[in-house]
Amino acid sequence: VGAAQVLVASNRGPVSYTVADDGSLRSKRGGGGLVSGLSAIGPESGALWVCSALSDGDREAVRRGVGEDGVRMLDIPADVHADAYNGIANSVLWFVHHMLYQTPLEPVFDAEFRRRWASYETYNRAFAEALAEEAAEGAAVLVQDYHLTLVPGMLRELRPDLRIGHFSHTPWAPPEYFAMLPDDIARQVLRGMLGADRLGFLTRRWAEAFTACCERFAGGLGDTRIGVHGLGADADFLRVRSHERDVEERIVTLREEIGEGRRTIVRVDRTELSKNIVRGLLAYRQLLDDHPEWRERVVHVAFAYPSRQDLAVYRDYTAEVARVAEEINERYGTPGWRPVLLHLKDDFARSLAAYRLADVALVNPIRDGMNLVAKEVPLVSDTGCALVLSREAGAHEELGEDAITVNPYDVVQTAEALHEALSLGAEERAERSKRLASAATALPPSRWFLDQLEALRA
Ligand code: G6P
Repeated sequence: VGAAQVLVASNRGPVSYTVADDGSLRSKRGGGGLVSGLSAIGPESGALWVCSALSDGDREAVRRGVGEDGVRMLDIPADVHADAYNGIANSVLWFVHHMLYQTPLEPVFDAEFRRRWASYETYNRAFAEALAEEAAEGAAVLVQDYHLTLVPGMLRELRPDLRIGHFSHTPWAPPEYFAMLPDDIARQVLRGMLGADRLGFLTRRWAEAFTACCERFAGGLGDTRIGVHGLGADADFLRVRSHERDVEERIVTLREEIGEGRRTIVRVDRTELSKNIVRGLLAYRQLLDDHPEWRERVVHVAFAYPSRQDLAVYRDYTAEVARVAEEINERYGTPGWRPVLLHLKDDFARSLAAYRLADVALVNPIRDGMNLVAKEVPLVSDTGCALVLSREAGAHEELGEDAITVNPYDVVQTAEALHEALSLGAEERAERSKRLASAATALPPSRWFLDQLEALRA
């Protein structure tokens, strides 16, 4: 029995380390929706955040005993972690919940899959054991995401006294898709999660899919309760951060790149297969074909930041994004006009600069747990922006009314939606943007976290 009253567990933690040339350790903030959501819990909350060492720098930090208050990094062997994280979490569970498989050939659940699954179990057990060691009697433990689905069940066995919650930051697959998993694995995932007292989801749709899976494969939910907590944007942080000097500097550069008097269609994503960046570009190309009046008058600012580059499909996808963007620039560009401004290197300040300049935000994922960009751009944009939003993004449940909704597969419809968004009058656009911003901030990250904690303790 340990001392922590509140514990959070996630694969990626709030910081990561790199070893500099002089051998010293540099720290950097972690990325992605999960870390953004949880970043509201600073060390002052007294919570302990248990996460995994992800890089050589992180492992070195653990060995040297370097770390932040309130964070415990687990030094899971690199090969076990790679099999669990890349081999199972990102290549199987992520694919299932985002429905990304090209099913004539994938997935194949063979002996290699079974071997990786054993690593996923080992990795989950390492978390369960660390949590069992650190948690005080009756403490609340909030386990995060598809990387750690087995932890609630394992932890329940080790420490029946704890209040255990689990939160999914992704969609959940409907039962007919989830059924692709081998039966025993499907049951193990669900039973692992049902070890929790309470399970949280971003939208009702994902919660209902989970419940349906449990009815089909696990004989129902048992005593586990389900809650929906739609993570919102962090208005206080973003409003201040987006006016700092580095952002202002990038606005100057971006304005030059865009050119005088042009409209901007902005997208900012990590280059996930689910984000649908290629079809977004194709829709933009369609816009330039169907509405040539926009040529030279609009620029598509597309930031596609690296993600999961250990996986070949991600690398290929990134290359395809770059190829299509280049093709559009070659075909339509003129000496004074570059139709697509693609940046592949992560730069948070530049993202905020693009948010501020956005006339239109394009958020068209195939499927997305929530999508915080959809919530952030209307909040930050200087003149208010129109939002073209996929009906398959979790955020659509909250923002659908004031967004222009698209079927993410339909590039002709998406092109028309872009045209409609660009054509909105300034006043109408500003008003919609205001309503979007207010819906987007209904549940700020700190409240989102505290609500779950209170519900778990109740
Ligand atoms: C996104 C998803 C989260 C997930 C995270 C992992 O933010 O919304 O559900 O946990 O990606 O990203 P990573 O870079 O750690 O693989």
